[in-house]
Amino acid sequence: MTQKVTVPSIKAMKEKGEKITMLTAYDTPFARILDQAGVDILLVGDSAGSVVAGYPNTLPVTIDEMIYHTRAVIKGVQRAFVVIDMPFMSYQISIEDAKRNAGRMIKESGAEAVKLEGGVNMKEVIRAIVDIDIPVMGHIGLTPQSIHQMGGHKVQGKVEEQKQKIIADAVAVEEAGAFSVVMECIPTELAQEITEQLSIPTIGIGAGIHCDGQVLVIHDLLGLMGDFRPKFVKSYVNLQQVISQAVEEYMDEVRKKKFPTEEQSFHL
Ligand code: KIV
Repeated sequence: MTQKVTVPSIKAMKEKGEKITMLTAYDTPFARILDQAGVDILLVGDSAGSVVAGYPNTLPVTIDEMIYHTRAVIKGVQRAFVVIDMPFMSYQISIEDAKRNAGRMIKESGAEAVKLEGGVNMKEVIRAIVDIDIPVMGHIGLTPQSIHQMGGHKVQGKVEEQKQKIIADAVAVEEAGAFSVVMECIPTELAQEITEQLSIPTIGIGAGIHCDGQVLVIHDLLGLMGDFRPKFVKSYVNLQQVISQAVEEYMDEVRKKKFPTEEQSFHL
């Protein structure tokens, strides 16, 4: 095994100018493949709600569901750093509640850090969780748990007032003690400015080329989401097509009595 990825090694990658690779994972087989491929950070995102459970957005996802997925991911990982998303309403009610839920999620899932959405408004929550020695990854810009407030999945920070808010959010996340921050759907120039200003690594998604790292939802990268493809996604393969072809071949062989053969059969 090459060296385990840790909070200090992730921070050191920014200092050395090495790009950080991050992907989502929700189960053991995918986690094993991504870990063996050398992905630095595996995020058990609450995107599980949309891409695995078929919910319309991430809001219905529960703490128990996040723990279930993360336990499965942990079983496939040797090297990557594993981050668990705190789902909607698991950290917004009070600092005490946020600490209790973050602690439970780390304890019961085996993840090494939590991620939560928000900037200035979550500064004290992040600080309180970091103070009990749980590493926190921030998430600013387009924050999917605020989808109703934002009026949909829209690029954030295009107008000056929004831009200043996002810069303030980034600074607040760093000052609160987060070890890194995801920046989702913000203009490239803004992401570059924040990346240069912060000492912690920035991980972009729909935030251009200048971030310290990049994250994608694994189902998007593999072409498993059909025709739904946001502008910031690049699919490196069309697995939906590959799977459909394999399933059609299987059905054809079953119908034509070509499968199973002697090779797959048992005898008395
Ligand atoms: O839930 C998730 O997968 C995420 C990434 C898109 C950053 O938050």
